[in-house]
Amino acid sequence: MKEGDLELLNEIAAFEDSNDMSKLNMGWSWRHVRIWPATLNRFFKDGYLENVFRSNSYTGYRLSEKGRAVIASADRAHEAPQDTEITPPDNLFGDIIGHDDVKELLRACLLADDPVHALLVGPPALAKTLFLWDIEKACGERAIWLVGSATSKAGLWDLIADKQPQVLLIDELDKMGAADTAALLSIMEGGRLVRAKVGRELDINRPIRVVAASNRAYSMSPELLSRFAVCRIDSYSRNDYLTVVKGVLVHRENVPAETAEEIAGKLDGITKDVRDAIRVARLAPQLGVDRAIKLLLETRDDN
Ligand SMILES: Nc1ncnc2c1ncn2[C@@H]1O[C@H](COP(=O)(O)OP(=O)(O)OP(=O)(O)O)[C@@H](O)[C@H]1O
Ligand SMILES: [Mg+2]
Repeated sequence: MKEGDLELLNEIAAFEDSNDMSKLNMGWSWRHVRIWPATLNRFFKDGYLENVFRSNSYTGYRLSEKGRAVIASADRAHEAPQDTEITPPDNLFGDIIGHDDVKELLRACLLADDPVHALLVGPPALAKTLFLWDIEKACGERAIWLVGSATSKAGLWDLIADKQPQVLLIDELDKMGAADTAALLSIMEGGRLVRAKVGRELDINRPIRVVAASNRAYSMSPELLSRFAVCRIDSYSRNDYLTVVKGVLVHRENVPAETAEEIAGKLDGITKDVRDAIRVARLAPQLGVDRAIKLLLETRDDN
């Protein structure tokens, strides 16, 4: 089969299903289905069509058993994979330091029999995106990942119809466009998703759980916020910042423990952004820790 053949066979099926074939006892012709005669002839040779009538001026076809079977099996392949229970591993959030309440809440949301959607809200660099990544890793193909500001061209409905995920992960939820947000409101309430396809409808009605992240909640509509268990993450305390920086530098940035300790100690009271510590660590081999801190943090507010 060539690319696009299945789509054409679907169109033929749609034509046959929506017309009274008993009135077309000579079969339909290329003009009825608006497909080139040469293509129809190829389908006939491949056994997807039966030739009902042939004269010098009219060639009439009908879908063959084989043609119908090909369409049906493509449909089945497209159907939702059976829901399998999500069983998050014990170390689901193993790479995230602290945030024990968030970990407990998200794990419960994933395991709940019926969906509870969760939204992580808080200032930058508090591991919100990392939480979404870890869930994506654990769920594999059952999860899809979106960034609010860049939802696919096809839109959220079509994406969900195609991928049929159990978990929807949305980073930067506050930047999601109006059309996708409207779709999301319905999806989150177990809304019926009906997508018109050529001559058919694809009907999806499966619960999807949503885990999202955002820097701010105030720009989001009350009805959107109401659909989430909103989990506010506060900036790190001084102690938490030291622990997180040491952990991130040693485990994710491969910085020796003493250097990590030194960087964390020297940034104490200057910043609470973990990304600052990562930048210092990355430039320290060239600049040394003190100079890196000076260049990165003491010039920052000048403009
Ligand atoms: N508790 C933590 N455990 C592990 N890594 C952390 C933690 N907090 C911050 N980080 C590190 O900080 C960096 C930023 O994390 P992440 O991208 O998840 O932040 P975010 O909350 O999504 O920020 P933003 O709101 O700016 O998108 C990453 O390198 C991450 O490893
Ligand atoms: Mg993020």
